[in-house]
Amino acid sequence: MTVSININGQDHELDVPPETPLLWALRDNVKLTGTKFGCGLAQCGACTVHMAGQPIRSCVTPVSAVVGQHITTIEGIDTKAAKAIQAAWEELAVPQCGYCQSGQIMAASALLANNPSPTDNDIDAAMNGNICRCATYVRIREAIKQAAKESAQG
Ligand code: FES
Ligand code: FES
Repeated sequence: MTVSININGQDHELDVPPETPLLWALRDNVKLTGTKFGCGLAQCGACTVHMAGQPIRSCVTPVSAVVGQHITTIEGIDTKAAKAIQAAWEELAVPQCGYCQSGQIMAASALLANNPSPTDNDIDAAMNGNICRCATYVRIREAIKQAAKESAQG
């Protein structure tokens, strides 16, 4: 079956079975390997991408569910919120091993786009499903707050 998906602003015709997880299609067919496989069970957030700006778990999302949708991966995010998040991530040196960070940045940039001034509770609720085995959680929270502040200023 051929499925048509818009990924990072480009239309892709993918010749894959409809039940193929979006994560595999992104990594194997489109060669966008910034999105990571962690658990494969929607439990860790490493595979987070955006569909129409909202975070989804690409490991449990079949390509048939995203036909005709706009998917954004870590390679393609360029919203104001995403740029502020990425800048804060760099400034505060958030990553340790880095494996979870693509998913963390996707979750954080969706949070900031939806809620420009998140409280600690908002941050916890939005980031709760993104696991970091290196426990970079304190820096993640600080980076989201810094990005929110910098976005508000300009
Ligand atoms: S790999 Fe998708 S949530 Fe863990
Ligand atoms: S930085 Fe290593 S798993 Fe998060």
